Amino acid sequence: MESGGIAALREWRAAQTGTVALVPTMGALHSGHRALMDRARESADAVVTSVFVNPLQFGPDEDFDRYPRPLQDDLRLCESAGVDFAFAPALEEMYPSEPEVTVSSGRMGRVFEGAARPGHFDGVLTVVAKLFALARPHKAVFGLKDIQQFSLVKRMIADLDMGIELIGLPVVRDADGLAMSSRNQYLSAADREAALALPRALEAGAAHAEAGPAAVVTASREVLTAAGSDRFELDYLSLVDAATFRACPADFRGSALLLLSATVGGTRLIDNRPVEF
Ligand code: PAJ
Repeated sequence: MESGGIAALREWRAAQTGTVALVPTMGALHSGHRALMDRARESADAVVTSVFVNPLQFGPDEDFDRYPRPLQDDLRLCESAGVDFAFAPALEEMYPSEPEVTVSSGRMGRVFEGAARPGHFDGVLTVVAKLFALARPHKAVFGLKDIQQFSLVKRMIADLDMGIELIGLPVVRDADGLAMSSRNQYLSAADREAALALPRALEAGAAHAEAGPAAVVTASREVLTAAGSDRFELDYLSLVDAATFRACPADFRGSALLLLSATVGGTRLIDNRPVEF
């Protein structure tokens, strides 16, 4: 495996003759990331994974400074996953100065996660656009755990004619059902137990799909109400049209998403589940 910053990536990329798949990450890699790399490996001749904690997508009171950065472990995981190039640029290399021109995520970037984290998705799309420009991939693999991010990247590729094939991978969960996340390492044992209300609420909701949208939300909310405590604070629970992120009406037919976010012991967690009506 090769690794390096922008110059090394450009050189590596220029030498590629086959298809290239990109897996963007912020590092602190876990089995969820690994699943994306495995999928990239199956989908293209060469795989590039980026490991970069992007300051643009963190709010002023968020965890940019304490976000875990175990680079050597991450590089080992990339290597064992058969990644061909690990792109780990320095901060100053990606942002020699504060960018003047950025990508705007629009209405879909201002609801749910975007409402709770103003500017977050503009920061995500800006760095993803830069990664696309640097790695020039044919395909990009993202996780459906960050479903709003996935949907916005899909819109950016379409709206800006980027011509990249986007592949989405289902949420990878630990044995107890909690969606894997680099931020799970912030959770104490008691926080983690409380956090299990997220997947349980989604499951309870999805089990009521036949009874319609209102029943799904009610069943899910019951689990969350029971879980509410000093440790567990619900931010949002919503059933939305997967195509628009607008709330599903009572007579909704088609593909919906049950979206959920809660702060558990000070750590913000998100999860979601597709529901068909
Ligand atoms: P990060 O949180 O490191 O996630 C990188 C990729 O891994 C994303 O596509 C995310 O959806 C996916 N992922 C994380 N946990 C997952 C899980 N449990 N199951 C499936 N996929 C999972 O998302 C980012 O980084 C950044 O916003 C980034 C796109 C790299 C831009 O900075």
